[in-house]
Amino acid sequence: MTTVLKIGGSLITDKSDSHTIDERMLDRVAAAIAGADPDAIVLVHGGGSFGHPVAAAHGITDRDIVCDPRAINAVVAAMTTLHETVLEVLTDAGVPAVSVPPRAIYRKRTDGTLEGSTETIAEILAAGFIPVLHGDVVVHDAAGFSVASGDGIALHLAGALEADRIGLCTGVAGVLDRDGKVIDRIERFGEVADAIDDPEGTDVTGGMARKVQTLLEMSTPATIFGIEQLDTFLAGNRPGTTVSRA
Ligand code: IPE
Repeated sequence: MTTVLKIGGSLITDKSDSHTIDERMLDRVAAAIAGADPDAIVLVHGGGSFGHPVAAAHGITDRDIVCDPRAINAVVAAMTTLHETVLEVLTDAGVPAVSVPPRAIYRKRTDGTLEGSTETIAEILAAGFIPVLHGDVVVHDAAGFSVASGDGIALHLAGALEADRIGLCTGVAGVLDRDGKVIDRIERFGEVADAIDDPEGTDVTGGMARKVQTLLEMSTPATIFGIEQLDTFLAGNRPGTTVSRA
């Protein structure tokens, strides 16, 4: 059983404060993964208050392309700082986590989809390790670099690795309705378009609304949930919101 788990940047960083890790939350994530029992897990983490503000400051989003190597490398540096801490906390918790840099694997096509070979990731999994990727800047067919969101990477991996499950652990308990209640299941974006709030802080990849839209393009049902439900998800259940095309 292969599980792809995206850890939202807003969960493990303080999105209102640039370059700040939420250590308590990151420790909880690491403990949950260390205690989980699926055969194979691939982890992808987001950018939070590291990747997003730096990307925004340099005009890079998942739709805008930049050619200035200093801008590209500034985003890489911000993401690498966060990534190194994530790896350290995971390995300290006993998780056999190994870094895989997405920009070395992926390119983005002009229609926004990702293209990349995941054979090495399958080999890393087969060797008993947990590959850890992150939202990144990747080369774009329009001859520049653009942001590849962690969600986009997680979705691509889920398809390419024929994952059984995909989970997105976020800063909230699922997709919330107007009363703040978790929506159990979403089959069409129109059902929830009005109820979804704008994300807090800077988000160059579109926040919850885009997340739901992207997930609806997939054939594998996805689960969006919060930290309180991470153990439950890893135990094989579907807490929070299930996003699945009808
Ligand atoms: C963003 O990744 C990566 C960069 C800004 C380079 P995500 O879009 O997956 O990050 P979060 O989870 O929303 O923070």
